[in-house]
Amino acid sequence: MKVNGESLRSIWRDNGSKTVKIIDQRYLPHSLEIIDLNSLNDFCEAISEMKVRGAPLIGITAAYAIADSMQKDSSDSNLENSCNSLSKTRPTAMNLFWAINFIKENLYKINSDIRADKASKLADQLAAEDIQKNKAIGQEGFKIIADISEKKNKETVNILTHCNAGWLATVDWGTALSPIFRANREGLKVHVWVDETRPRNQGGLTAWELANEGINHTMIVDNSGGHLMQRGMVDAVIVGSDRTTSAGDVCNKIGTYLKALAAKDNNIPFYAALPSSTIDWNIQNGLNDIPIENRSSKEIDHISGLDMDGRLETLRIYSESVKSLNPAFDVTPSKFVTGIITEKGIYDPNEEALRQAFGKK
Ligand code: MRU
Repeated sequence: MKVNGESLRSIWRDNGSKTVKIIDQRYLPHSLEIIDLNSLNDFCEAISEMKVRGAPLIGITAAYAIADSMQKDSSDSNLENSCNSLSKTRPTAMNLFWAINFIKENLYKINSDIRADKASKLADQLAAEDIQKNKAIGQEGFKIIADISEKKNKETVNILTHCNAGWLATVDWGTALSPIFRANREGLKVHVWVDETRPRNQGGLTAWELANEGINHTMIVDNSGGHLMQRGMVDAVIVGSDRTTSAGDVCNKIGTYLKALAAKDNNIPFYAALPSSTIDWNIQNGLNDIPIENRSSKEIDHISGLDMDGRLETLRIYSESVKSLNPAFDVTPSKFVTGIITEKGIYDPNEEALRQAFGKK
């Protein structure tokens, strides 16, 4: 997508180079910092400290991490150790485990002397597929927005989104934002209510992406959504997902569930947009079976932003004696989900529809 009119992706390698580059998302929207990842430790830290984030991007970063590690030592033991270290970086995003398993299975089958080359090609392949899948999600989800636009006589369609499920959370295009980017490029009038998404304020990333694409948007605090829905100011909610069960329970950024409840009460469609790599085919019940990451209380009791002189500062906002709990994700049961927008189409959130769509027995 575009940044200051130039195309950019969230992770890439320059032509002919093996060095992986990422945008360090901790500094956005204030400053665009591009860094190199040069070791397994660099990659693991980038994921766990959220220099890169968003389920699809976490998966692709892990794929490049294995490729990088194989260049240095392509033995079985290093393959195993690299995959183990990456698996411990963040527990919830399915795409991380999906990518690790895919690369690992393919590399174990072949001789160690050709693993580095194969791993590199597989990582590029997964990155290219991620872009294609997210673009396709945009085409599918566009139909929903176009339909609402028709019903409103082409008046502005108001979409509420939570967290950042735009191109920064994937290699390119994004999931929940992909239909919105597409609708805007097709000339539909859209406006996005951007949930701030405390504690890490991923809404700032969403607003930055939308501004760069010239899409009308308004930042709101996380508690505003229900109020806006009650007043007819939201036509649809579209969110991403970190892990969706085979029965259609959607795990996403903390606070998503409350948006789904409010949407249900107000008869507003609630969609989750995700590539099939986010679906965990081994589990059905999201509440019981999805591991929910608990992150540091520092994310709650500290806040970063620019001071009056434009310098990035981090401030403590509660006293040290305040205890806090920071679950990073919640689960929206399938009964609150109107549909799941995937690269293959939009499906009902149930086992039969999803298994049939993706040929999973
Ligand atoms: O903790 P984060 O920022 O990695 O969480 C990201 C989300 O919850 C996104 O909504 C999800 O990964 C879908 S991204 C396409």
